[in-house]
Amino acid sequence: MTRLDRVEQTPGRFAGPPLTPRTAVIWSVLRAELDRRGAAELTVLDVGGGTGGFAVPLAQAGHRVTVVDASPDALAALTRRATEAGVADRVRAVQGDGDALAGLVEPAAADLVLCHAVLEVVDDPAPVVAALTTALRPGGAASVLVAGRAAAVLGRAMNGHLEVAATVATGPAGSAGPRDTLRRRYDADGAAALLTAAGLVVEEIHGVRVLADLLPAAVADGQQGALVELERALAGRPPYRDLAAQLHLFARRPA
Ligand SMILES: C[S@@+](CC[C@H](N)C(=O)[O-])C[C@H]1O[C@@H](n2cnc3c(N)ncnc32)[C@H](O)[C@@H]1O
Repeated sequence: MTRLDRVEQTPGRFAGPPLTPRTAVIWSVLRAELDRRGAAELTVLDVGGGTGGFAVPLAQAGHRVTVVDASPDALAALTRRATEAGVADRVRAVQGDGDALAGLVEPAAADLVLCHAVLEVVDDPAPVVAALTTALRPGGAASVLVAGRAAAVLGRAMNGHLEVAATVATGPAGSAGPRDTLRRRYDADGAAALLTAAGLVVEEIHGVRVLADLLPAAVADGQQGALVELERALAGRPPYRDLAAQLHLFARRPA
């Protein structure tokens, strides 16, 4: 049985939100960690958590979540969403920079830190990873989601943009240039090295959206259940994992 199989089959108290092809693999990994922690109310920090797509379901599951985000608009939407879900008392919105976490949250206090789709847009990812590591209590876990480089190369090439594909493939950071919304993209080894350099131990790496972005909408929408299952089945298996639009790394601060 593979590690991912174990994750999928873990029974637990946290059902989580409805699973979509974009989120099913991430929730499977998070659910396994929540189940491992039993009935404990966890202290969760979501760095660049935006409008609360993960923060609000985690609060609904009984945990206390602080979202640090640079955007006041995103935080306003988060607060509305938390209020509508009846968990405003469990969600704290803090405006600030990911690399300035030290001044915003208590060190060594978080059981779980999320940093999803952020490291590819910040000025420098290393200080952000260092700061989120410092925010974790020893033994705490980090859920880090980054943009995958290989998928961007294939996507650009399949749309006929061969020069852009070459730039993404061979440039130092995997960005397509100044007009690219992302400043960098990762392969699994590079992303793991970034976390390891900050003192985290990487436990799992999965691909997220291996197929979801490649299929015609009629297929993706018409067979969503089958697509969720296929995404989960492929997520942990190279070479499929390494072609995913995003890479999800689950890491731990040593106890
Ligand atoms: C692509 S969104 C991801 C939102 C959420 N984590 C998710 O996965 O849905 C990136 C988020 O990071 C925030 N962000 C960008 N740079 C940041 C920084 N330096 N510090 C904190 N948040 C930042 C943005 O405001 C935005 O909400």
